[in-house]
This record gives sequence, C-alpha cells and structure tokens, in this order.
Amino acid sequence: MRVIGLMSGTSYDAIDAAAADLEPAGDRLVLKPLGMVSERYDDELRAALAAALPPGTCSLAEVCRLDTRIGQAFAAVAVRADRELCEHRADLVASHGQTVYHWVESGRAHGTLQLGQPAWIAEATGLPVVADFRPRDIAAGGQGAPLVSLFDRLWLRGRPGTPVALNLGGIANLTAPDGTAFDTGPGCALLDAAVRESGCGGLPYDAEGALAARGTIDPRLLRRLLAEPYYALPPPKTTGKELFHAGHLRRALSGLGTLPAEDVLATLARLTAETVADAVRRVGGTEVIASGGGTRNPVLMRMLRERLAGVPVRPSDALGLPSAAKEAYAFAVLGFLTVHGLPGTVPASTGARHPSVLGSVTPGRNGLRLPPTGPSAPERLEVRDPRGGGT
Ligand SMILES: Nc1ncnc2c1ncn2[C@@H]1O[C@H](COP(=O)(O)OP(=O)(O)O)[C@@H](O)[C@H]1O
Ligand SMILES: [Mg+2]
Repeated sequence: MRVIGLMSGTSYDAIDAAAADLEPAGDRLVLKPLGMVSERYDDELRAALAAALPPGTCSLAEVCRLDTRIGQAFAAVAVRADRELCEHRADLVASHGQTVYHWVESGRAHGTLQLGQPAWIAEATGLPVVADFRPRDIAAGGQGAPLVSLFDRLWLRGRPGTPVALNLGGIANLTAPDGTAFDTGPGCALLDAAVRESGCGGLPYDAEGALAARGTIDPRLLRRLLAEPYYALPPPKTTGKELFHAGHLRRALSGLGTLPAEDVLATLARLTAETVADAVRRVGGTEVIASGGGTRNPVLMRMLRERLAGVPVRPSDALGLPSAAKEAYAFAVLGFLTVHGLPGTVPASTGARHPSVLGSVTPGRNGLRLPPTGPSAPERLEVRDPRGGGT
C-alpha cells in the first residue's frame, strides 16, 4: 500500500509530506521511503494561525476559516506528493493536521483540536484520508500524545542497549524502548520565539544557530527557565505552546535587564539541551536517534552532545529516514494501521487505558474500500531502501 503522510508540527513552519510503500512481511512491516516534499505556509495563513494560537484567542468564524484554508494547503501538498513521489499511485493519505489547541488541565488531556479539514484533501487527491488521530487516545484516557511512540518502538526494536528516539520540533519528545514516551519540553519553540521577539534576521528561526553561536549562556536566565515545574513531572506528560510561548520567555527575562539576543538564544539552546539530556538519562538511554528541525541547529546539537557525553546522538538519516521527514513517515504508518484495523498507540506512552485504532476516515473518490483481511499487528518496522538494501 502506498501511503502519503502529512504533518505540520507546533512550529507551523511548513507542511511536510512523506510517501512510503508499506507492506507486511511476517511479523514485520516493511517501509520503503519514496521521499518527501515540504511547503511553507504562505505568510498570510501563517500570520492568521499565529494570531489564533494560544495565548491568542479567536472566534468560531476564524476557526472555520483556518480549518478550511489549512485543509486546502494540506491538499495542495498531498497532490504534489502523489504526483512527484508516487507516480499518481498513492492509495491513502494520513494527515495529522495542524494542532491549534491541546487542552490539558491538572496534568490530564481533556481534548485536542487539529485543523485542516480532510474533505479538501480527499476532494483534491481522490484518495481516502485518515485524519484526527489524537482524540481517540484521549477518549481512551490517554494524553493523545506522543503518537509517534509506536512507530519509534517498532523501528528501533532490536538495536542494542536502550535506543531513544528524539524529535526536536517546536516541542521535543522522546520514546524509550519500554514505551515510555513524553514531551521533554521545548525543542525549538522558545528559540523561535526569541528570534521573532528580537526581530533579528529575515527568517522565523536562528538559521544554523548562527546567532546562538555568538552568544554566552546567562546563568540567571537559565536558572529561572529550569525552574518551570513541567520538567520535573513524571511521564506520561505532554505539553505544547500553551505553556512554552513568548510570554513564558518574557516572564523569565523580566528584571534581568536587556540581554543581547545572542545570549538569550545560547541560553535557550542550553535549556533544550539540558532538559532533553535529563530526560534521556531518566529513561536510561544509551543512544539517541534524533530527528526534527532542531537537528539543523549545530549549537543545539553540540550542547546536547556535551550534556550527553558518552551517549552517541545520531541523526535518523543514519537509519534511513531523513530527519525532516521522520514524523510524516510515522503518520503514514499510523494511517496504514488504521485502515487495517490495527491499533496505533502504546498505552504505556500515552497513559491510555488500552490501545486504540486511531483517527477518522474520509472516503475517497471511489468510496471507502478497506483492505478485506488485515495483517496482524507488526512487531517491527524495517526501513528498506526502495533501490535495494535495508536498515
Ligand atoms: N536550518 C536551520 N537552522 C536552525 N534551525 C532550524 C533550521 N531548520 C529548521 N530549524 C528549526 O526547526 C524548526 C522546525 O522543526 P520541525 O521539525 O518542522 O518542527 P515542528 O514539528 O514543530 O514543525 C524551526 O522552527 C526551526 O527552529
Ligand atoms: Mg515543521
């Protein structure tokens, strides 16, 4: 089955699409990556989204507009992925959508909202679409996140030691082999917020960590940031930009005088490195397989390697999945599991009462024909180069 996975994370920098051929083989699911395409949100939509996200508020009219426009933007990327990566032969689209709100109170998730109306994707591609992955896990008592943990476990099973999958998106999350998985705190979210607040450079992020590289860590700021109680909470736990946004940084900076943006960025890189490294140690990690846009920031990666001395940090590319595309591949796998009637969650990761078959399915042009007899749940994921060879 040829599946396109669509993802846009908390950074809402771009919609990433990855296509894969997925075939069961005994107790394995074989994934042949076909590549990725990525498209940035246009400036107007990005600005509308930024204004609507917490701590901002918005009307239901705006929610409707965003749901529609994000759905259309996802649809355009899906069409491109089908054309450029799949020779128009994709069977299914799995769309994460754009998280706009993750309702957490007293450490429990009560609801979650991903926008990007799948009808637009089904209409544009003609393909059935699995979307709305997270709410079912919340209905089953879970946090609705992290959802990549099943993928990570299947993928890293069999590696020696305690391999930990780490994704450095806006928020950072990790998965350990026993299924422990949680958001460690900010990945790039506060770094991006600092860049935006400082008005430095043309990009919405610190490209290649160039500014952070020129800064010095401010111990007072670091101490204040590390005092955030979230870091000490036991897993399972999830967080988002509801907590780690510009206001969080502003509060930590108040009364410290005017710090150069470079110093703020160096300190924030250290905050991510330190909280991630603590989390890796907490789960006894002996190796880190890293993905997400944060891997493109060499200052962050250097600090992480320093804090994790003795624990190698490898990009997911080394295991056959480009770090920018890993999450989109993970959602392609989740969509595959759903249409085969197979659960997509690890209760130990999300805290749910039981595993769940995730998502809502929108029929394609030819209605909805689910595979007649599904395979059994895979024990492992094997990433195999489509041109031969494997990892
Ligand atoms: N070349 C780069 N240099 C530094 N940071 C980068 C670079 N490319 C991406 N990033 C960081 O990665 C973030 C996006 O990562 P991504 O994995 O897409 O996160 P999300 O899943 O939250 O969308 C950007 O907002 C930025 O902070
Ligand atoms: Mg992104």
